[in-house]
Amino acid sequence: MAFMYLRESIRAYRERDPAARSDLEVLLCYPGLHAQIWHRMAHAAWRKGLRLPGRFLSHLGRFFTGIEIHPGARIGRRLIIDHGMGVVIGETAEVGDDVYLYHQVTLGGTSSAHGKRHPTIGNNVIVGAGAKVLGAIRVGDGARIGANAVVVAEVPAGTTVVGIPAHPVDRRADRKRGGFDAYGTPTDCVLDPLLREVEMLRAELSEVELRLARLTSQRAPAGE
Ligand SMILES: CC(C)(COP(=O)(O)OP(=O)(O)OC[C@H]1O[C@@H](n2cnc3c(N)ncnc32)[C@H](O)[C@@H]1OP(=O)(O)O)[C@@H](O)C(=O)NCCC(=O)NCCS
Repeated sequence: MAFMYLRESIRAYRERDPAARSDLEVLLCYPGLHAQIWHRMAHAAWRKGLRLPGRFLSHLGRFFTGIEIHPGARIGRRLIIDHGMGVVIGETAEVGDDVYLYHQVTLGGTSSAHGKRHPTIGNNVIVGAGAKVLGAIRVGDGARIGANAVVVAEVPAGTTVVGIPAHPVDRRADRKRGGFDAYGTPTDCVLDPLLREVEMLRAELSEVELRLARLTSQRAPAGE
């Protein structure tokens, strides 16, 4: 089972990172892959209630790779952590399948309360270098987060967000281009086109509702 996960992860790196030239190169030279191997061991210990061994394995993984994944975090299949240095994934974070994270990404919390306090990242999401995704928010399937963005609110599926705080870029332009391709990592082929359309309409409706709510509150007479 562990071998199968490793094989499909190596294949994912080969398919999605144009710099990866052979399976052996990925196995030997990709800290993102090594971090996942450490995390699998740490997470297994954590789930058995072996908290300190779990933390220690996670610490060793961080020491060797520069990538910090809390042993409690739940990571999907075929995750790619490109370059990797400085990535932090918090205890209650959940990461879907086929996610692509660049270096210095933080999936962090905004409160020290116990319970769910880190983000849930859907399938086929790309998170650009240096981006911070904060709080128990959801990032929908196929979303793309720009480099250095700070995301503090839900990101609908299929949406590209940039900036601080992160906001959607013009999805109409996205649609005309037929979707964007981040550093050779197309996602349109994996997200059902009809679902993508529905999600875009949903996102546009939420935006209209938000604007309407803002206008209504601006026009409301003082004291109301
Ligand atoms: C956000 C991103 C996904 C958007 O890609 P895209 O869909 O091709 O969008 P465009 O490049 O057409 O940009 C759309 C708009 O967003 C702006 N924008 C793009 N990336 C941005 C970013 N990271 N921060 C702020 N604004 C950004 C562009 O200036 C443009 O603004 P405009 O409409 O006012 O001209 C991409 O720019 C990105 O940041 N990818 C991450 C790549 C990465 O981290 N690589 C690391 C390699 S080591």
